Amino acid sequence: MASILAIETSCDETSVAVVQDRQVCSNVVYSQISVHQPYGGVVPEVASRRHLETINQAIACALEQAQLPISSLDGIAVTCAPGLVGALLVGLTAAKTLALVHQKPFLGVHHLEGHIYASYLDEPELEPPFLNLLVSGGHTSLIYVKACGCYETLGQTRDDAAGEAFDKVARLLQLGYPGGPVIDKLAALGNPQAFVLPEGNVSRPGGGYHPYDSSFSGLKTAVLRLVQQLQQDEQPFSIQDLAASFQETVARSLAKRAIACALDYRLNTITVGGGVAANSGLRKHLQAAGAAHNLRVLFPSLKFCTDNAAMIGCAAAEHLNRGHTSPLTLGVQSRLSITDVMQLYQ
Ligand code: KG4
Ligand code: ZN
Repeated sequence: MASILAIETSCDETSVAVVQDRQVCSNVVYSQISVHQPYGGVVPEVASRRHLETINQAIACALEQAQLPISSLDGIAVTCAPGLVGALLVGLTAAKTLALVHQKPFLGVHHLEGHIYASYLDEPELEPPFLNLLVSGGHTSLIYVKACGCYETLGQTRDDAAGEAFDKVARLLQLGYPGGPVIDKLAALGNPQAFVLPEGNVSRPGGGYHPYDSSFSGLKTAVLRLVQQLQQDEQPFSIQDLAASFQETVARSLAKRAIACALDYRLNTITVGGGVAANSGLRKHLQAAGAAHNLRVLFPSLKFCTDNAAMIGCAAAEHLNRGHTSPLTLGVQSRLSITDVMQLYQ
Protein backbone atom coordinates (compact mmCIF):
# COMPACT_ATOMS: atom_id res chain seq x y z
CA MET A 1 0.00 0.00 0.00
CA ALA A 2 1.26 3.50 -0.84
CA SER A 3 0.62 6.58 1.32
CA ILE A 4 0.87 9.71 -0.80
CA LEU A 5 0.71 13.44 -0.19
CA ALA A 6 -0.62 15.00 -3.39
CA ILE A 7 -0.80 18.61 -4.58
CA GLU A 8 -3.07 20.04 -7.31
CA THR A 9 -2.66 23.65 -8.53
CA SER A 10 -3.26 23.37 -12.29
CA CYS A 11 -6.05 25.97 -12.45
CA ASP A 12 -8.12 27.78 -9.83
CA GLU A 13 -8.20 25.28 -6.97
CA THR A 14 -5.37 24.94 -4.44
CA SER A 15 -5.77 21.40 -3.20
CA VAL A 16 -3.68 19.05 -1.06
CA ALA A 17 -4.66 15.52 -0.07
CA VAL A 18 -3.28 12.51 1.72
CA VAL A 19 -4.38 9.16 0.31
CA GLN A 20 -3.55 5.53 1.01
CA ASP A 21 -4.00 3.86 -2.37
CA ARG A 22 -7.71 4.47 -3.10
CA GLN A 23 -8.64 5.61 0.38
CA VAL A 24 -8.81 9.33 1.11
CA CYS A 25 -7.32 10.37 4.49
CA SER A 26 -7.74 14.11 3.84
CA ASN A 27 -8.63 16.31 0.88
CA VAL A 28 -8.27 20.06 1.43
CA VAL A 29 -9.61 22.26 -1.40
CA TYR A 30 -9.23 26.05 -1.36
CA SER A 31 -11.34 27.35 -4.23
CA GLN A 32 -10.32 30.62 -5.90
CA ILE A 33 -13.68 31.09 -7.63
CA SER A 34 -14.56 34.27 -5.72
CA VAL A 35 -11.15 35.78 -6.59
CA HIS A 36 -11.70 35.30 -10.34
CA GLN A 37 -15.43 35.99 -10.44
CA PRO A 38 -15.09 39.78 -10.96
CA TYR A 39 -13.05 39.07 -14.14
CA GLY A 40 -15.58 36.58 -15.57
CA GLY A 41 -12.94 33.84 -15.84
CA VAL A 42 -9.63 32.59 -14.45
CA VAL A 43 -6.81 35.18 -14.60
CA PRO A 44 -3.57 33.13 -14.76
CA GLU A 45 -1.29 35.56 -12.86
CA VAL A 46 -3.86 36.01 -10.11
CA ALA A 47 -4.24 32.22 -9.85
CA SER A 48 -0.48 31.68 -9.42
CA ARG A 49 -0.23 34.35 -6.71
CA ARG A 50 -3.19 32.94 -4.84
CA HIS A 51 -1.74 29.39 -4.98
CA LEU A 52 1.49 30.79 -3.53
CA GLU A 53 -0.39 32.44 -0.68
CA THR A 54 -2.36 29.34 0.32
CA ILE A 55 -0.21 26.30 -0.56
CA ASN A 56 1.68 26.03 2.74
CA GLN A 57 -1.48 26.26 4.79
CA ALA A 58 -3.18 23.67 2.58
CA ILE A 59 -0.26 21.25 3.07
CA ALA A 60 -0.27 21.72 6.85
CA CYS A 61 -4.03 21.30 6.99
CA ALA A 62 -4.05 18.12 4.86
CA LEU A 63 -1.36 16.50 7.03
CA GLU A 64 -3.13 17.47 10.22
CA GLN A 65 -6.50 16.14 9.05
CA ALA A 66 -4.92 12.88 7.91
CA GLN A 67 -3.22 12.49 11.30
CA LEU A 68 -0.15 11.13 9.55
CA PRO A 69 3.41 12.41 10.02
CA ILE A 70 5.20 13.26 6.79
CA SER A 71 7.88 10.67 7.72
CA SER A 72 5.31 7.88 7.29
CA LEU A 73 4.50 8.80 3.67
CA ASP A 74 5.74 6.75 0.71
CA GLY A 75 5.74 9.53 -1.87
CA ILE A 76 4.98 13.14 -2.81
CA ALA A 77 2.89 13.74 -5.95
CA VAL A 78 1.88 16.80 -7.93
CA THR A 79 -0.06 17.70 -11.07
CA CYS A 80 2.61 18.77 -13.59
CA ALA A 81 0.56 18.88 -16.84
CA PRO A 82 -1.61 20.06 -18.52
CA GLY A 83 -2.69 23.40 -17.04
CA LEU A 84 -1.67 27.01 -16.44
CA VAL A 85 2.14 27.07 -16.35
CA GLY A 86 2.51 29.59 -13.52
CA ALA A 87 -0.11 27.82 -11.41
CA LEU A 88 1.42 24.37 -12.02
CA LEU A 89 4.86 25.71 -11.04
CA VAL A 90 3.69 26.65 -7.54
CA GLY A 91 2.55 23.08 -6.81
CA LEU A 92 5.58 21.54 -8.53
CA THR A 93 8.04 23.62 -6.50
CA ALA A 94 6.28 22.81 -3.23
CA ALA A 95 6.18 19.07 -4.03
CA LYS A 96 9.83 18.90 -5.11
CA THR A 97 10.90 20.74 -1.97
CA LEU A 98 8.98 18.32 0.27
CA ALA A 99 10.37 15.31 -1.61
CA LEU A 100 13.93 16.62 -1.36
CA VAL A 101 13.81 17.68 2.29
CA HIS A 102 12.08 14.51 3.47
CA GLN A 103 13.90 12.18 1.05
CA LYS A 104 10.70 10.77 -0.46
CA PRO A 105 10.02 9.45 -3.99
CA PHE A 106 8.60 12.19 -6.23
CA LEU A 107 5.83 11.70 -8.83
CA GLY A 108 4.46 14.09 -11.46
CA VAL A 109 0.84 13.33 -12.40
CA HIS A 110 -1.13 14.10 -15.56
CA HIS A 111 -4.22 16.12 -14.55
CA LEU A 112 -6.56 14.09 -16.79
CA GLU A 113 -5.25 10.79 -15.45
CA GLY A 114 -6.22 12.25 -12.06
CA HIS A 115 -9.78 12.86 -13.29
CA ILE A 116 -9.91 9.23 -14.49
CA TYR A 117 -8.70 8.05 -11.07
CA ALA A 118 -11.43 10.05 -9.29
CA SER A 119 -13.74 7.13 -10.11
CA TYR A 120 -11.60 4.72 -8.05
CA LEU A 121 -12.08 6.80 -4.89
CA ASP A 122 -15.77 5.87 -4.64
CA GLU A 123 -15.37 2.47 -6.28
CA PRO A 124 -12.13 0.91 -4.95
CA GLU A 125 -12.83 -2.43 -6.66
CA LEU A 126 -12.92 -0.85 -10.13
CA GLU A 127 -10.33 -2.20 -12.59
CA PRO A 128 -9.66 -1.54 -16.29
CA PRO A 129 -10.65 -1.99 -19.01
CA PHE A 130 -13.40 0.61 -19.10
CA LEU A 131 -14.42 3.72 -21.02
CA ASN A 132 -13.95 7.13 -19.42
CA LEU A 133 -15.97 10.15 -20.48
CA LEU A 134 -13.79 13.08 -19.48
CA VAL A 135 -15.70 16.36 -19.42
CA SER A 136 -13.97 19.36 -17.86
CA GLY A 137 -13.39 23.05 -18.53
CA GLY A 138 -10.61 22.28 -20.99
CA HIS A 139 -11.33 18.77 -22.28
CA THR A 140 -14.09 16.58 -23.67
CA SER A 141 -12.80 13.12 -24.51
CA LEU A 142 -13.78 9.48 -24.65
CA ILE A 143 -10.80 7.57 -23.32
CA TYR A 144 -10.28 3.82 -23.51
CA VAL A 145 -8.64 3.00 -20.16
CA LYS A 146 -6.61 -0.17 -20.81
CA ALA A 147 -4.36 -0.16 -17.74
CA CYS A 148 -2.62 2.28 -15.40
CA GLY A 149 -0.73 4.67 -17.72
CA CYS A 150 -2.14 3.09 -20.90
CA TYR A 151 -4.84 5.15 -22.62
CA GLU A 152 -6.31 5.59 -26.08
CA THR A 153 -8.39 8.62 -27.04
CA LEU A 154 -11.35 7.40 -29.08
CA GLY A 155 -13.28 10.64 -29.36
CA GLN A 156 -12.92 14.31 -28.54
CA THR A 157 -14.38 17.74 -29.13
CA ARG A 158 -13.44 19.52 -32.32
CA ASP A 159 -13.76 22.96 -30.72
CA ASP A 160 -15.05 24.00 -27.28
CA ALA A 161 -14.91 21.63 -24.31
CA ALA A 162 -18.23 20.81 -22.60
CA GLY A 163 -17.37 22.91 -19.51
CA GLU A 164 -16.24 25.75 -21.74
CA ALA A 165 -19.64 25.64 -23.49
CA PHE A 166 -21.40 25.95 -20.12
CA ASP A 167 -19.10 28.85 -19.17
CA LYS A 168 -19.54 30.68 -22.52
CA VAL A 169 -23.33 30.29 -22.59
CA ALA A 170 -23.52 31.50 -18.97
CA ARG A 171 -21.41 34.51 -19.92
CA LEU A 172 -23.62 35.44 -22.86
CA LEU A 173 -26.68 35.12 -20.61
CA GLN A 174 -24.81 37.27 -18.03
CA LEU A 175 -25.03 34.60 -15.35
CA GLY A 176 -21.44 34.90 -14.10
CA TYR A 177 -18.54 32.46 -13.71
CA PRO A 178 -18.25 29.47 -13.55
CA GLY A 179 -21.25 28.78 -15.74
CA GLY A 180 -21.82 25.08 -15.13
CA PRO A 181 -23.22 25.20 -11.60
CA VAL A 182 -25.44 28.25 -12.35
CA ILE A 183 -26.92 26.72 -15.50
CA ASP A 184 -27.44 23.42 -13.66
CA LYS A 185 -29.46 25.20 -10.94
CA LEU A 186 -31.59 27.21 -13.41
CA ALA A 187 -32.14 24.14 -15.61
CA ALA A 188 -33.76 22.31 -12.69
CA LEU A 189 -36.58 24.88 -12.86
CA GLY A 190 -37.05 24.92 -16.64
CA ASN A 191 -38.56 22.88 -19.47
CA PRO A 192 -35.80 21.04 -21.39
CA GLN A 193 -38.11 20.67 -24.39
CA ALA A 194 -38.84 24.43 -24.67
CA PHE A 195 -36.22 25.18 -27.34
CA VAL A 196 -34.77 22.92 -30.01
CA LEU A 197 -31.00 23.42 -30.28
CA PRO A 198 -28.40 21.74 -32.56
CA GLU A 199 -26.50 18.80 -31.08
CA GLY A 200 -23.26 19.57 -32.91
CA ASN A 201 -22.54 16.56 -35.09
CA VAL A 202 -19.05 16.33 -36.60
CA SER A 203 -19.09 15.41 -40.31
CA ARG A 204 -16.77 12.76 -41.68
CA PRO A 205 -14.92 13.27 -44.98
CA GLY A 206 -16.53 10.17 -46.50
CA GLY A 207 -20.03 11.30 -45.45
CA GLY A 208 -22.09 10.78 -42.31
CA TYR A 209 -21.11 11.79 -38.81
CA HIS A 210 -18.21 10.91 -36.56
CA PRO A 211 -19.84 8.74 -33.86
CA TYR A 212 -17.60 9.73 -30.93
CA ASP A 213 -16.43 13.29 -31.66
CA SER A 214 -18.42 16.29 -30.49
CA SER A 215 -18.62 20.01 -31.26
CA PHE A 216 -20.08 22.65 -28.96
CA SER A 217 -19.24 25.96 -30.61
CA GLY A 218 -22.25 25.74 -32.96
CA LEU A 219 -24.54 25.13 -30.01
CA LYS A 220 -23.16 28.20 -28.23
CA THR A 221 -23.73 30.32 -31.37
CA ALA A 222 -27.25 28.89 -31.72
CA VAL A 223 -28.06 30.00 -28.14
CA LEU A 224 -26.67 33.47 -28.91
CA ARG A 225 -28.73 33.79 -32.14
CA LEU A 226 -31.86 32.54 -30.39
CA VAL A 227 -31.52 35.11 -27.58
CA GLN A 228 -30.85 37.91 -30.09
CA GLN A 229 -33.89 36.89 -32.14
CA LEU A 230 -36.17 36.69 -29.09
CA GLN A 231 -34.96 40.10 -27.89
CA GLN A 232 -35.39 41.63 -31.35
CA ASP A 233 -38.95 40.30 -31.52
CA GLU A 234 -39.50 41.68 -27.99
CA GLN A 235 -40.67 38.23 -27.02
CA PRO A 236 -40.29 37.44 -23.31
CA PHE A 237 -38.64 34.09 -22.62
CA SER A 238 -37.76 32.02 -19.60
CA ILE A 239 -34.05 31.86 -18.79
CA GLN A 240 -34.77 28.61 -16.92
CA ASP A 241 -36.26 27.06 -20.08
CA LEU A 242 -33.23 28.17 -22.10
CA ALA A 243 -30.79 26.77 -19.50
CA ALA A 244 -32.74 23.48 -19.37
CA SER A 245 -32.84 23.15 -23.18
CA PHE A 246 -29.12 23.88 -23.49
CA GLN A 247 -28.18 21.44 -20.71
CA GLU A 248 -30.45 18.77 -22.20
CA THR A 249 -28.77 19.14 -25.60
CA VAL A 250 -25.25 18.80 -24.13
CA ALA A 251 -26.25 15.85 -21.94
CA ARG A 252 -27.99 14.04 -24.80
CA SER A 253 -25.04 14.57 -27.12
CA LEU A 254 -22.47 13.31 -24.59
CA ALA A 255 -24.56 10.33 -23.49
CA LYS A 256 -25.22 9.23 -27.08
CA ARG A 257 -21.51 9.26 -27.95
CA ALA A 258 -20.38 7.52 -24.77
CA ILE A 259 -22.94 4.72 -25.15
CA ALA A 260 -22.13 4.17 -28.85
CA CYS A 261 -18.42 4.02 -28.06
CA ALA A 262 -18.79 1.60 -25.13
CA LEU A 263 -20.99 -0.72 -27.19
CA ASP A 264 -18.65 -0.65 -30.22
CA TYR A 265 -15.60 -1.45 -28.07
CA ARG A 266 -17.49 -3.98 -25.94
CA LEU A 267 -16.71 -2.13 -22.70
CA ASN A 268 -19.43 -2.70 -20.11
CA THR A 269 -18.39 0.08 -17.72
CA ILE A 270 -18.40 3.83 -18.38
CA THR A 271 -16.81 6.14 -15.81
CA VAL A 272 -17.19 9.91 -15.96
CA GLY A 273 -14.72 12.53 -14.76
CA GLY A 274 -14.14 16.30 -14.72
CA GLY A 275 -16.20 19.25 -13.53
CA VAL A 276 -19.10 18.60 -15.94
CA ALA A 277 -19.52 15.14 -14.37
CA ALA A 278 -21.22 17.12 -11.56
CA ASN A 279 -23.99 18.14 -13.97
CA SER A 280 -27.35 16.73 -12.92
CA GLY A 281 -28.67 16.56 -16.51
CA LEU A 282 -25.69 14.50 -17.66
CA ARG A 283 -25.90 12.26 -14.60
CA LYS A 284 -29.59 11.57 -15.24
CA HIS A 285 -29.26 11.04 -19.02
CA LEU A 286 -26.20 8.81 -18.95
CA GLN A 287 -27.47 6.69 -16.05
CA ALA A 288 -30.74 6.09 -17.91
CA ALA A 289 -29.04 5.35 -21.23
CA GLY A 290 -26.55 3.03 -19.50
CA ALA A 291 -29.35 1.12 -17.77
CA ALA A 292 -31.21 0.75 -21.08
CA HIS A 293 -28.10 -0.87 -22.64
CA ASN A 294 -27.06 -2.91 -19.62
CA LEU A 295 -23.92 -0.84 -19.06
CA ARG A 296 -22.52 0.14 -15.66
CA VAL A 297 -22.19 3.93 -15.39
CA LEU A 298 -20.09 5.36 -12.54
CA PHE A 299 -20.05 9.04 -11.59
CA PRO A 300 -17.63 10.19 -8.85
CA SER A 301 -19.23 11.92 -5.86
CA LEU A 302 -19.53 15.66 -6.49
CA LYS A 303 -16.44 16.64 -4.47
CA PHE A 304 -14.26 14.41 -6.67
CA CYS A 305 -15.70 15.70 -10.00
CA THR A 306 -14.17 19.16 -9.85
CA ASP A 307 -10.43 19.66 -9.33
CA ASN A 308 -9.05 18.04 -6.17
CA ALA A 309 -5.76 16.52 -5.01
CA ALA A 310 -7.25 13.21 -3.80
CA MET A 311 -7.65 12.02 -7.41
CA ILE A 312 -4.03 13.04 -8.14
CA GLY A 313 -2.85 11.07 -5.10
CA CYS A 314 -4.87 8.04 -6.16
CA ALA A 315 -3.25 8.01 -9.63
CA ALA A 316 0.21 8.53 -8.07
CA ALA A 317 -0.26 5.63 -5.60
CA GLU A 318 -1.03 3.30 -8.50
CA HIS A 319 2.11 4.41 -10.35
CA LEU A 320 4.30 4.15 -7.25
CA ASN A 321 2.98 0.63 -6.56
CA ARG A 322 4.25 -0.24 -10.04
CA GLY A 323 7.67 1.24 -9.28
CA HIS A 324 7.17 4.41 -11.31
CA THR A 325 8.77 7.64 -10.00
CA SER A 326 9.63 10.95 -11.68
CA PRO A 327 13.03 12.67 -11.78
CA LEU A 328 13.42 15.85 -9.72
CA THR A 329 14.31 17.60 -12.99
CA LEU A 330 10.70 17.17 -14.21
CA GLY A 331 9.15 20.42 -15.47
CA VAL A 332 5.58 21.58 -16.05
CA GLN A 333 3.82 21.42 -19.43
CA SER A 334 0.80 23.48 -20.46
CA ARG A 335 -0.23 20.72 -22.86
CA LEU A 336 0.42 16.98 -22.76
CA SER A 337 -1.65 14.22 -24.33
CA ILE A 338 -3.09 11.59 -21.98
CA THR A 339 -1.50 8.97 -24.28
CA ASP A 340 1.95 10.30 -23.26
CA VAL A 341 1.65 10.00 -19.44
CA MET A 342 4.46 7.45 -19.19
CA GLN A 343 6.89 10.22 -20.27
CA LEU A 344 6.58 11.51 -16.72
CA TYR A 345 8.13 8.38 -15.15
CA GLN A 346 11.50 6.69 -15.13
O1 KG4 B 1 -12.49 19.64 -13.87
P1 KG4 B 1 -12.68 21.08 -13.55
O2 KG4 B 1 -12.89 21.45 -12.12
O3 KG4 B 1 -11.45 21.92 -14.06
C1 KG4 B 1 -10.81 21.62 -15.27
O4 KG4 B 1 -9.92 20.73 -15.25
O5 KG4 B 1 -11.21 22.23 -16.28
O6 KG4 B 1 -13.90 21.58 -14.45
C2 KG4 B 1 -14.36 22.90 -14.42
C3 KG4 B 1 -15.53 23.01 -15.40
C4 KG4 B 1 -16.05 24.44 -15.57
O7 KG4 B 1 -16.17 24.69 -16.96
C5 KG4 B 1 -17.41 24.42 -14.89
O8 KG4 B 1 -18.35 25.32 -15.45
C6 KG4 B 1 -17.83 22.98 -15.09
O9 KG4 B 1 -16.63 22.23 -14.92
N1 KG4 B 1 -18.84 22.54 -14.09
C7 KG4 B 1 -20.08 22.16 -14.43
C8 KG4 B 1 -20.76 21.88 -13.21
N2 KG4 B 1 -19.89 22.09 -12.18
C9 KG4 B 1 -18.71 22.48 -12.75
N3 KG4 B 1 -20.67 22.06 -15.63
C10 KG4 B 1 -21.97 21.66 -15.66
N4 KG4 B 1 -22.69 21.40 -14.54
C11 KG4 B 1 -22.14 21.48 -13.31
N5 KG4 B 1 -22.87 21.22 -12.21
ZN1 ZN C 1 -9.76 19.35 -13.95
